[in-house]
Formats: sequence, C-alpha cells, structure tokens
Amino acid sequence: RKRVVILISGRGSNMGALIEATGDPSYPANIVGVISDNADAKGLKAASALGIEAKAITKADYPDKAALDRALDEELTRLQADIVCLAGYMRLLTPAFTEKWAGKLINIHPSLLPLFKGLDTHNRAIEAGMRVHGCSVHFVTAEMDGGPIIAQGVVPIAPGDDESKLARRVLEVEHKLYPLALRLVAEGKARMENGRAVLTGVGAEGALI
Ligand code: GAR
Repeated sequence: RKRVVILISGRGSNMGALIEATGDPSYPANIVGVISDNADAKGLKAASALGIEAKAITKADYPDKAALDRALDEELTRLQADIVCLAGYMRLLTPAFTEKWAGKLINIHPSLLPLFKGLDTHNRAIEAGMRVHGCSVHFVTAEMDGGPIIAQGVVPIAPGDDESKLARRVLEVEHKLYPLALRLVAEGKARMENGRAVLTGVGAEGALI
C-alpha cells in the first residue's frame, strides 16, 4: 500500500474520510502520518486517538515560509511518504516544495475548478447564479488551486440554498470524492505528466461523483 501523509489546518473531516477508506484492506493506500500547521487543530487529536502519528509544524517555530516548508519536507521524507494529501491545509506552499513533491501532492478544493479558486467558494457560486457547484481534487502546483484536475464532484444548487446548506452538501460529496481520487493516484491511474493530469484505465465516470 502507498504511504500517505495528510496535511490539515482544522476540523479534519476529509482526513477522517480518507482514514476510513483505508480501513478496507483492499484500499491501495495507508495513512502513516498527519501534520497540521495549527497546533490546536481538532483533526490532530482525532488522528492521534486513532493511533496515527500526528504532529504540528507551525509558523511560530520557523523564521520564514521556506524554512517551514523545509521542515515539512524533512518530516515527509522521514515518514517515507509516497503521496501527500492536503485536506483543508490553509497555507500556501512554496514553489520549491511543490516542485519537489510534484505528482505526489494532491489537494481538495470546494468548487468546480477552475471556477472559484481561493476562499468563500460557496457564497461566490450562489452569488454568481450558478445552478451547479461542487468540489475538485487536483495535483498541487505552485499556482494556488491551479494544478491539473484529477476528479470532480457535482452538487446542484437549489433555489433558496444558503452558504451553510450548500457547504454541507458539498462536504458530503468531498468525503466520497477524496477517497476515490486518492485511490486513482495510489493505483497509478491518475498521474501528472507535463503539467496535465493523465488518467489511464478510467472512464469519465471513474473520476466523477
Ligand atoms: C473542506 O471543505 C476543503 O475542501 C476546504 O476546507 C474544508 C476543510 O474541511 N479546503 C479549502 O478551502 C482549500 N483552499 P475539513 O478540515 O473538515 O476537511
């Protein structure tokens, strides 16, 4: 099984969904560590309680972003990570880091990329009058929320939806989408080549919820 480390900043519900998926012995990945940039993240305690090595690497301990990312890199190397999943990790990684881990680093974002990069995605989708919204898992590059898309989940926007209703429905889909996307990467069916995501042995529906 591929060795996966999850990076979080807070609640960690996507982390929980990935850990749950790995409970199936036929799942091609195993979670070997959780790292947070916030020592108070709820998800850190949850991961420790499940017996997963969990630690904080926070900006208070490093002089700058590059030094923090070097510490992160050392920890991932020590854990022998094959794949790194960002799951609500709310800080931007330096280009040196994203280049070193290119093709092994994936993120979940709560919109149908390339629409609505950045924050406040649910409100922005409602305000734009969208009839559909959703979530995307993509390979991480130096461009924020800009890397090649692996898989997407589609969520209709209902008349009268507000941010919290829509966020709840998108989050439910995130919890299905992330395990599916990680499976594709762990099985080598989704790869990053020349800045594009290449899917092999997967129909369109195999990367869609
Ligand atoms: C999720 O909705 C994730 O898509 C989003 O933060 C939430 C984390 O929730 N990520 C981003 O906005 C990244 N820019 P969780 O901690 O419960 O998984």
